Amino acid sequence: MLDWNDPLKKGNDEPAHAPNAANVMPASYDDGQEHHFDPAAAEGADQTGLGGIEANAGRVDVSEKRIINAKADVNQLLPLKYQWAWEKYLAGCNNHWMPTEVSMQADLALWKSKDGLTQDERNMVMRNLGFFATAESLVANNIVLAVYEQVTNPECRQYLLRQAFEEAVHTHTFQYIVDSLGLAEGELFNMYREVPSITAKDSWALKYTQNLSDGTFNTSTQDGAQNFLRDLVAFYVVFEGMWFYTGFAQILSLGRRNKMTGIAEQYQYIMRDESIHLNFGIDLINQIKIENPELWGEAFQHEVHEMLREACELEIDYARDTIPNGLLGLNAEMCEEYMHFITNRRCSQIGLAELYPGATNPFPWMSEVVDLKKEKNFFETRVTDYQTGGALTW
Ligand SMILES: [Fe+2]
Ligand SMILES: [Fe+2]
Repeated sequence: MLDWNDPLKKGNDEPAHAPNAANVMPASYDDGQEHHFDPAAAEGADQTGLGGIEANAGRVDVSEKRIINAKADVNQLLPLKYQWAWEKYLAGCNNHWMPTEVSMQADLALWKSKDGLTQDERNMVMRNLGFFATAESLVANNIVLAVYEQVTNPECRQYLLRQAFEEAVHTHTFQYIVDSLGLAEGELFNMYREVPSITAKDSWALKYTQNLSDGTFNTSTQDGAQNFLRDLVAFYVVFEGMWFYTGFAQILSLGRRNKMTGIAEQYQYIMRDESIHLNFGIDLINQIKIENPELWGEAFQHEVHEMLREACELEIDYARDTIPNGLLGLNAEMCEEYMHFITNRRCSQIGLAELYPGATNPFPWMSEVVDLKKEKNFFETRVTDYQTGGALTW
């Protein structure tokens, strides 16, 4: 049975050490130095790790490690500076899973039976899968082709490599679901180009990664560094931290009624991974803010606030599109309230005021679904417990 033995047990998206005004910089990475945006400090340093080897150069001084524009050699993991990044890498490895370990027999029987699901439920499942099927690829592309190059810290890169693999596992999940249920693969994977509410979300996010894809992009100027921060907000806070949650709530709501329990279990695994992705992104953003306070001025904060407001509205449109008539225990108004609640959480995690004061969580069971210890036998499928794997045999 799935064991949520990770540092995120506090709730479905609760960070292991939620950055806030009080604890945004854990002691482990407070190097006691005052930081200012100073790209010149990194001048001459090889920030990609691909440069020539400087023979007999000095050993890494931990105070020279930075998230962006570091002077320290990016190819040397140790000494660690950002313990939170290393801990997330270990938590991701401990949570290893593969979609093929989840049985799809019950889902297949229900999907094939004439009266198993209403037409509204079928439409919701398809649009839900259709968003995720390509969203995972967009997120993976952003990490590998845009973010990785700009992050000049080896422990953060180590986590990004783990995250990239997890995104591949998530894409694999949608291939496996399509294959298991015999779904129309072209319809599902092409939805991001055919369903306007999905196109709107993906296009909104893509423009931020496109800003970084120009071969000359770097973070050595204030404009460049702010563009990079916008990308981190768009993908970590919005895409993985807001837009995935309507989908999780919809599928897990079906699962609670014993429908499509295989997909629901896979979404639980994905949600567990995504909660770490989100919290890594929040730590990354907050650490960049600490190291480069000039980037996080009033005008920029206002802009980020507006990004979250727009993203919330796009998500509400998408929710209406997926359940126009409402389903048992779920309707578009509840999804809207939930998205306001989630948006508030994301605002406070990056140090901004809540956009929708007073919003409450209409799906309190979401955190219970994550903590499977409370509903141990709810889903019947079984996954290998990688954390206590036996001895290696050949
Ligand atoms: Fe993912
Ligand atoms: Fe992710």
